[in-house]
Amino acid sequence: MTENNSASRRELLKSVLGLGAVAGGLASCASTSAERASRSGAQYMGDFAAPALDRIRLGFIGTGLRGSGHVRQMLMMDGVDVVAICDSNPKAAASSAKACVDAGRAAPAVYDRGEEDYKRMLEEVELDAVLIATPWRWHAPQGIAAMEAGAHAFLEVPIATTLDEIWALVDTSEATGRHCMMMENCCYGRNELLFLNMVRKGVIGELTHGEGAYIHDLRGQMAEVDIGEGNWRVAHHTLRDGNLYPTHGLGPIAQMMGLERGTDRFERIVSFSSPAFGRALAAQRVLPPDHPRNQTNYICGDMNSSLIKTKLGRTLLVQHDVTSPRPYTRLNTISGTRGTLADYPLRVALDPEGKGAHSWLQSEEQLAPVFKEHEHPLYGRVGEEARKAGGHGGMDFIMLWRIAYCLRNGLPMDQNVYEGASWSAVCPLSETSVAKGGNPQLFPDFTRGRWQETKPLGVVS
Ligand SMILES: NC(=O)c1ccc[n+]([C@@H]2O[C@H](COP(=O)([O-])OP(=O)(O)OC[C@H]3O[C@@H](n4cnc5c(N)ncnc54)[C@H](O)[C@@H]3O)[C@@H](O)[C@H]2O)c1
Repeated sequence: MTENNSASRRELLKSVLGLGAVAGGLASCASTSAERASRSGAQYMGDFAAPALDRIRLGFIGTGLRGSGHVRQMLMMDGVDVVAICDSNPKAAASSAKACVDAGRAAPAVYDRGEEDYKRMLEEVELDAVLIATPWRWHAPQGIAAMEAGAHAFLEVPIATTLDEIWALVDTSEATGRHCMMMENCCYGRNELLFLNMVRKGVIGELTHGEGAYIHDLRGQMAEVDIGEGNWRVAHHTLRDGNLYPTHGLGPIAQMMGLERGTDRFERIVSFSSPAFGRALAAQRVLPPDHPRNQTNYICGDMNSSLIKTKLGRTLLVQHDVTSPRPYTRLNTISGTRGTLADYPLRVALDPEGKGAHSWLQSEEQLAPVFKEHEHPLYGRVGEEARKAGGHGGMDFIMLWRIAYCLRNGLPMDQNVYEGASWSAVCPLSETSVAKGGNPQLFPDFTRGRWQETKPLGVVS
């Protein structure tokens, strides 16, 4: 393929994946963001709580690998009725509809007539909330349509991939008065909850630095051509160079630091990518030489490292590598003046009196008293049920349980729209920084100056 052909193919793919704003570059995004941040929003959603719902009429858009798990777990929650299911793949929709019937529930309405059929579902079925687990390009249009139809929107990660789309979700949430929560399940991991509880108790002192990552060898997705996540996710590696998936590592640390709510703000980011070798090698190994995946360039660096500086001067390292043969890690590390909590493996270094003791707790035996004293109460309340239900060690269940609980009790969501927006903004901001040789990029203030009005997330139970 010639360079010109390759470039025009890339432009075509970008438009198919809805990546126009990325192609537009930083200057336009930055001025758009500054201008948008200076406009007053229809209503500030930081602590937004909707009227309590006795029962929740729930709809789903996207019931593939992820969405089908959400359907099965939501069927276990009190007061939740799964009333509509939409997936452009009729088999995926039918399988989740069957799961409802198998669970002894009424058959949901099914919408499986292609990629736009979610609009028919939103028109025909009155829904309190919609869970969206589709490929990234669909998150913003489907989230916006759900809120405009009067439903609360719960979106998979990242909330969207461009600053324009992220702003559009924020604007729509404010205009419609509907929740728009990005479902960052890792905020409900047992260790992440433990760390949050310890941070809120002041155990590690003044926070200085955090580390989060998504390092997960997903090269197996190169063989997923017609179905599965690889079917749509691989194309992003041919079009974008930056952190494509920042929120699993970043979200929990950002909550610990109270970023975008009450304590501190994301200020700027610099980002660098390593060479991109692994995807092409994986394609060569699993696909014939004339396969389109062997006829394209992979531009996303195998490892992307970003450094973020906050308003209070704290630092965060955020990494993304789904291509190298490496052990899984989300890093999940938070440092303060009196200690550091680190994961993969779990280690706790505490120096409450500032004596400079160079030791840490790591064995199960050493950590048992830490869990005894600081286990997050939410884990105590639903941890056992969550472990039995499964789904990333139980954190999916705890997240969905909290969503149902907050909706049924008229409480604010644990993650507000501005948090999902700023965590996801690392995608486009890192891409721009990489493209500009590591130049610092400013985070938009999605709260439009109102971030101090919302307290950091407490220790909810
Ligand atoms: N939080 C987590 O731990 C986690 C884990 C896996 C995936 N995810 C996220 O979940 C989302 C879905 O990922 P997945 O692994 O389930 O992918 P998948 O490809 O298995 O499923 C996506 C489903 O969406 C359907 N779909 C595509 N376009 C559609 C449209 N316009 N309307 C209706 N349905 C449509 C597909 O047919 C498919 O069934 C992604 O955003 C991904 O990042 C999150």
